[in-house]
Amino acid sequence: MKGIILAGGTGSRLSPLTKVTNKHLLPVYNKPMIYYPVQTLVQAGIRDILLVAGGNSAGEFLRLLGNGKEFGLKHINYTYQEGEGGIAAALSLAEHFADGEKVIVILGDNILEGNIKDSVKKFEKQKSGARLLLKEVEDPERFGVAELKGKKIVSIVEKPKRPKSSYGVVGVYMYDARVFDIIRTLKPSNRGELEITDVNNHYLKAGHLEYDILKGYWTDAGTFESLFRANRLIWEKISS
Ligand code: G1P
Repeated sequence: MKGIILAGGTGSRLSPLTKVTNKHLLPVYNKPMIYYPVQTLVQAGIRDILLVAGGNSAGEFLRLLGNGKEFGLKHINYTYQEGEGGIAAALSLAEHFADGEKVIVILGDNILEGNIKDSVKKFEKQKSGARLLLKEVEDPERFGVAELKGKKIVSIVEKPKRPKSSYGVVGVYMYDARVFDIIRTLKPSNRGELEITDVNNHYLKAGHLEYDILKGYWTDAGTFESLFRANRLIWEKISS
């Protein structure tokens, strides 16, 4: 399975920290933010990785990560997202790289404690469709929120004012090759973006959406509060 890391966007919620640099290059305790998603993929056994860069200082990813030697990789692929367009628009740039294979996508600002190897293995065995990771959170209104009935997801709503559950959709998505056709059918949301939640709902409606509950902590790092939380979680882990 191929891995895709999305590291574009302007990081406007972190301005002025992101005025001259890319959000994913900011420090999270003792490493640049982007190190964490790279590590998550590598630990899950993914070796073929594409990084979608964009926004400020996009070229610095190459200087920082090179061919990924520090992570035990032989090679990293890079591509560039012009402007903004949302997560699904960034993902669409990876169609050529995916070349008909299944993909695992991770948002560059998502920091996970645990190893997601088991979910990746399950998705390798899954015939087709998509697979998500869910995690109970205290502030679901900040995320895509999955409503569960029994063991099934029955709806996913992006940043609901009144969340129907506390299950946030983690920024790690596993898709079959149909994902690129699905993205072509999307229309921009109210915030002017092609939403990854719309992609997931597409799979849900077709009855092709599975999930696992993520073990260990999870945070994004795209706001001052969550970036601070990410720093603290890593510090606590390292110093414990
Ligand atoms: C995005 C997704 C959301 C997901 C979150 C995870 O939100 O739209 O569904 O739960 O990432 O970090 P954004 O960070 O773009 O607000």
